[in-house]
Amino acid sequence: MTNDINIPQFPESYWKTSVSLPSFPKLKSSIKTDVAIVGGGITGITAAYLLTKQGVKVTLIDADGILNGVTGHTTAKITAQHGMIYDELIQHFGSDKASLYYKACMEAKQLIEENINNHDISCDYQREDAYIFTNDNDYISKLETEKRAYDELGIPSELTDSIPLDIPVKSALVMKDQAQFHPLKYLKQLVKEAVSNGLEIYEQTTATDVEYNKHPAIITRNEHRIYCNYIIQASHYPFYDGQGFYPTRMYPERAYIIAVKSPKTFPGGIYINAESPTRSIRSATIDGENLWLVSGENHKTGQGESTMNHYDALKEYAEKQFGITEYVYRWSAQDLTTVDKLPYIGPVNKKEDNVFVATGYRKWGMTNGTIAAKILSDRILKEESPYQALFLPSRFQADPAVRKFTSMNTDVAKHLIKGKLEYTNDNVEDLSPDDATITRVNGKRTGVYKDKHHQLYAVDTTCKHLGCEVNWNEGDRTWDCPCHGSRYSYTGDVIEGPAKEPLNKVDLEQQS
Ligand code: FES
Repeated sequence: MTNDINIPQFPESYWKTSVSLPSFPKLKSSIKTDVAIVGGGITGITAAYLLTKQGVKVTLIDADGILNGVTGHTTAKITAQHGMIYDELIQHFGSDKASLYYKACMEAKQLIEENINNHDISCDYQREDAYIFTNDNDYISKLETEKRAYDELGIPSELTDSIPLDIPVKSALVMKDQAQFHPLKYLKQLVKEAVSNGLEIYEQTTATDVEYNKHPAIITRNEHRIYCNYIIQASHYPFYDGQGFYPTRMYPERAYIIAVKSPKTFPGGIYINAESPTRSIRSATIDGENLWLVSGENHKTGQGESTMNHYDALKEYAEKQFGITEYVYRWSAQDLTTVDKLPYIGPVNKKEDNVFVATGYRKWGMTNGTIAAKILSDRILKEESPYQALFLPSRFQADPAVRKFTSMNTDVAKHLIKGKLEYTNDNVEDLSPDDATITRVNGKRTGVYKDKHHQLYAVDTTCKHLGCEVNWNEGDRTWDCPCHGSRYSYTGDVIEGPAKEPLNKVDLEQQS
């Protein structure tokens, strides 16, 4: 019945197509402000809202348009149930810190709720129970261990062998009273509130560095300066590393989302499985009908098989579990995971305590991004926050995850060399429209994309961050770096950092 379902040709996020966002000018001169925020996602916008509400002068810049990064491509679950994490947090950090993490997530949820209520924001906010489920015998005891961790931390929960969703399940752990929403409807209103409180926003304005005199200043690609007292880097990857060695302390992963209609009615709830590959399920409403959002298939950026295979795997899962009548959207997202799985929120290094980072949300950006905004705005407003120490980027906790992480990051050295040596296809002539290949031009590894009108776009595939070789992402039509997750459009423009400069363009006429 469902084999002839059409796959959306281009990736497109449901959140983005269902909201029209305001646009803002480019920064055209140097300016002064009190707090400069880089990145117009949930962290940057929430921090701008909280600070301007207290009368602070804030300027927010974004290298692209606001809400076009990870926040525009999330699953938008608002929950403290971040996969099976609490037993692990207790083992690594002890129960006090694990409990603080839970409280931070729940406070983020409460803050979102308060904002919605205070401004009467219509953003499809719904309270839902959150479920981690398994249909794998090996994971039943792991869910029991996680349940004991919930009990130790006083997290209201229940272990059950059935869930509202009609799919095969052997066991599930429920965290009651979590939520979901339409993130862009919510944040569009926060932008409006913050702008009416005096927030200035500049889009298409890329921060490239920070310089210090008495106070910090952001330097933009066009050599303008934003002089300020505080900088919040809410740009996913910090654009300014401050010798915090963030690329060695985080790795990027991509995940995929499909939005489909099913003959079944969605019964409510938000879901994630315990085993691999990840399968996460929630619903949204489109024209009065349920849209089933099915996500998962995580993998390290720029590595592995054709990215279209990941969308196909999700489609196959949805067809098998509940059936598809229409495949409406598909999109993907990228997020960063830190050494110990807790985000880095706080000063970029021990000395520069007025330049902040907020990153490493491990795909739980709605709560982690909101609490990051609260922690950093509290810090600027000189308010106490119980969570500051837990998320300090300068923390170091020796635990088994570090060893595993080090082995994951040796990957970087491997990719640095591998990409430069691999076989390439020299026959660009045979390239089909809307496809890409790697070739060599004058001995240099070159990526070539042919668009639907047979126009060729050739770029030097050496990543502008630290020199690894980017690979083609067929599903999203981007060049992705396997080392630290920089992503470039087929024309070579930066979509996601840490790279700040576009890939070099290559003139195919010069091919010898
Ligand atoms: Fe670091 Fe490409 S993102 S080398």
